[in-house]
Amino acid sequence: MNAVITAVGGYVPPAILNNKKISETVDTSEEWIEKRTGILERRIADDNVATSDLACAAIDNLIKNYKVDREEIEVLILATATPDHILAPTASKVCEMSGLTNAFGLDLNAACSGFLYALEMGANMIESGRYEKIMVVGADKMSSIVDYEDRNTCILFGDGAGAVLLEKTESGYGLMKSILRTDGSGTASLLVPAGGSKEPAAMQSLLHRDHYLKQDGSFVFKRAVASMSQVSQDVLAKNKLDSDDIDWVVPHQANLRIINAVGESLNIPSEKVKVNIQRYGNTTSATIPLCLWDFKDDFNEGQKLLITTFGAGFSWGAACLKW
Ligand code: ACO
Repeated sequence: MNAVITAVGGYVPPAILNNKKISETVDTSEEWIEKRTGILERRIADDNVATSDLACAAIDNLIKNYKVDREEIEVLILATATPDHILAPTASKVCEMSGLTNAFGLDLNAACSGFLYALEMGANMIESGRYEKIMVVGADKMSSIVDYEDRNTCILFGDGAGAVLLEKTESGYGLMKSILRTDGSGTASLLVPAGGSKEPAAMQSLLHRDHYLKQDGSFVFKRAVASMSQVSQDVLAKNKLDSDDIDWVVPHQANLRIINAVGESLNIPSEKVKVNIQRYGNTTSATIPLCLWDFKDDFNEGQKLLITTFGAGFSWGAACLKW
C-alpha cells in the first residue's frame, strides 16, 4: 500500500512587491536582485491576514476544485515556520476554519524543508494502515519575520500556501523512498534569534531587530547546493533510478542559481526543472506545494518526480514519487 497525492491546491495573496519597490527602500537594484536570485516579484499578505488564513485559502482551493468531502479528512499536518502564535497550534485554527471537523491537526516546523518532512510523515501514517486521507499543507507569512531594512533577506521572501491531499492506493503510484536530513550546527546561520524560549520577547531584542530573520546568505547558498545535490543523488540510488528516469524536478525555490546548480549537478536538463521563483520568491514551507499546484497540468499519470529541499536547521531532503 502506498500514499498518493490525489489533489493539489494553492493560494498566494494578490498584493505584489516587485524589485523596483524594494530597490526604493534598501540599497540594491532591480538588476542585482534578478541576476543574483532570479526573483522578479513576490506576494505579500495584508497585515490582518495570518498564516492560518493562507493555509485555509489553499485548502479551500483544493476542496473546491476536487470536490473533496471535508469531513473525511482525518489528519491535517501544517508545515509552517510562521505560526499565528507560539501557542496555540495554528493547525487547530485551520481545522476549525476549514471545517475539517473530524481531523486532528498538528504544526510541523522544519523551515523550508517543512513540507517534505510533512509529506513523509503523512505518507508513513497512510502506509501504516491507520489513516486513509491526510491533508498536508505548507503555509508561511514570511513578511511577518522579514526585516524590510535588511537587503540580505528582504529581497528573497514572499507569502503563500499550498496543500495536497494524500490518500491510500494499491496502484503502485505515489510516494517512493525518501531521505531526510538534519544538522543543528547550521542553526546560527539562518534563524530568527528572538521571540522563542532562548531569547523571549523583550524591549532589548525588539530594538536590535532580533525578531527578524538573519542569515549568512553565501554560506547557506553553498550548503544548499551541496546538500540538495547529494541528497538527490542518494535518493535516486535508493529508489534504483537514474536521473534519466526523472520526468520532472520540483525543487525548493530559494534562489534560481541554487536550483540551476542542483539541476546541473544531476545532469537533468533545465526544461525538466520546475521554477516559479520569479513570481513568488521564497515562500519557505509553501514553495514545493505551490510548484506542484502551478505545474500540475504538466504532470502525466505515472511520471516520476524528484522533490528536493534545503532550509534552516539545517534541514534538507529529497523524495521520488510516481504521479
Ligand atoms: N543588493 C545589492 N548588493 C547586495 C545585496 C543586495 N540585495 N545583498 C548583498 N549584496 C552585496 C554584498 O554586500 C556583497 O558585496 P561586497 O562584495 O562588496 O562585499 C556582494 O553583494 C556579494 O554578496 P554575497 O552575499 O556573496 O551575494 P550572493 O551572490 O551570495 O547573493 C544571496 C546573496 C542572494 C542572499 C544568496 O547568498 C542567497 O540566495 N543565499 C541563500 C539564502 C537563502 O535562500 N536563505 C533562505 C532560506 S534557506 C533556503 O531556502 C535555501
